[in-house]
Amino acid sequence: MEIRYLGHASFQIKMGGKTLVFDPFISGNPLVKDIDVKSVKADYVLLSHGHQDHVLDAEEIAKNNEATLISNYEVATWYQEKGCTIYPVNHGGKVELDFGTIKYVNAVHSSVLPDGTYGGNPGGFVLWNDSGCFYFAGDTALTWDMKLIPMTCPKLDFAILPIGDNFTMGYEDAIIACDFIECNKIIGCHYDTFPYIEMDKEAAKKAFEAAGKELILPAIGETINV
Ligand code: NI
Ligand code: MN
Repeated sequence: MEIRYLGHASFQIKMGGKTLVFDPFISGNPLVKDIDVKSVKADYVLLSHGHQDHVLDAEEIAKNNEATLISNYEVATWYQEKGCTIYPVNHGGKVELDFGTIKYVNAVHSSVLPDGTYGGNPGGFVLWNDSGCFYFAGDTALTWDMKLIPMTCPKLDFAILPIGDNFTMGYEDAIIACDFIECNKIIGCHYDTFPYIEMDKEAAKKAFEAAGKELILPAIGETINV
C-alpha cells in the first residue's frame, strides 16, 4: 500500500483504487512546511475523534474533493451539518465500502469537537481488502481491547500507532501494543508536533529493534510503500 505522511497523525493512503486521508491536521502543524491543503486529494476522509489536531483540515479537504467523511456518529453528523457527505460508524461496527472493509475499534482517549460539541467516544480503524490489512489507532493509550483486533480482523500487515507519549501511549507502550495486535511493523506518529510530545526518535527506534520490531518514521511529505 502507498502511504504518504502528512505530519502529526495525518496520512494519505491509497487503497482499493481510492485515496483515504486520515486525521488531517496540516495547516496548523508548525512542522509542515510545503503541503498545501488545497492540493490534498481524497475520496474518503477518516477521523478517529474530534480533537482539533485530528480534524482541523477535514472540512476543507472533504469539500474540495467531494469526499465522504467517515467517523463516529457524533463527529460525522457534526460535519453533515456543515454540508459534508458522511458515513457514520460506531465501535465494533464494520462495513464494506468500495475500497475495502473498515471496522471502528476502541481507543482509550477523549473526544470533543473544536467548538466544544461532544465528539462521541474516540476510536481507531482497521481496514482491509485483498491487498492487505492495517490498523490506524488514532489517539489511544495501550489497552487490552487491542487484543480483540487479531481475534476479529484479518492479520495486520502494518499498524499506525501514536508514540509521542503525554496525550497518548509512548513508544515503550507501543512496543507492548505490537504483541497485543500481533503485528511487528509499525509506522509511528503523534510525536514532535508540540513541545509536550517531543520524542527521542533514535531511542524509540532502538527500543523497537531491541524488541525485534520495526518502527518506521517517515519524513513529513514522504511517501512509502508498505
Ligand atoms: Ni486527541
Ligand atoms: Mn491528538
